[in-house]
Amino acid sequence: MKVVVSVGGSVLAPELDADRVSAFADVINELVSDGCQVAAVVGGGGVARDYIGTARELGANEIELDQLGIDVTRLNARLLIAALGENVVTAPAKNYEEAGEVMRNGDVCVMGGVAPAQTTDAVGAAVAEYVGADLLVYATSVPGVFSADPNEDEDAEKYDQLSAEELVEVIAGLEMNAGSSAPVDLLAAKIIQRSGMRTIVLDGNDPTRVLEAVRHGKHEGTDIIPAGTGDELTYWAE
Ligand code: UTP
Repeated sequence: MKVVVSVGGSVLAPELDADRVSAFADVINELVSDGCQVAAVVGGGGVARDYIGTARELGANEIELDQLGIDVTRLNARLLIAALGENVVTAPAKNYEEAGEVMRNGDVCVMGGVAPAQTTDAVGAAVAEYVGADLLVYATSVPGVFSADPNEDEDAEKYDQLSAEELVEVIAGLEMNAGSSAPVDLLAAKIIQRSGMRTIVLDGNDPTRVLEAVRHGKHEGTDIIPAGTGDELTYWAE
């Protein structure tokens, strides 16, 4: 089973904490022991936002800001690489072809961003599409996909299950509300829709939730089940 795990920067490294990064690495190593081929995509979190905010004040243009963001995602990816030990790529994969090659060689792929004007949400979906993953898991700082931003709206409801079309609609609605943050962005939702990628969005603050979701399909987040995909047990490692 091929799995792509997209880990938000604010989930992997809200502040620098070796134990937290190790806990994610342990989960990935356990999946590898189960026989999974794994790619991890790592976000930039608050550090990326701080750099981008400061560089914006200094007059950097949007592409330069994106490049800064990409550099920070790759720094976080290097932290995870440091924690993973052997059988892992030595530096973050810089594009999808490199990611595919690493996985073909049987190693764990770790990467951050790849190109300006997107986020690692889209990278996760694109690399999952590229390597033909069976499952894409977003380990985010929110517990799933909600009808509105749960931090802003107390009536926001979590969806247990969505089709890919519904995901696109919900995310498009959320992105229209300035300031409200969606757990995955619209480009990622569109890629999930076109690839028919089976996807789970969950609270990654406890990384063992990722393990439970991949192994048994059990989680308290949101299942994205594109048309034509079932919930057959073949998706799960055991
Ligand atoms: P993130 O993926 O962490 O962005 O990339 P985010 O979604 O804003 O962060 P979370 O999910 O809330 O933690 C950080 C920044 O890096 C640039 C973008 O500017 C993004 O905002 N980036 C990242 C790219 O330009 N391209 C990429 O492929 C990835």
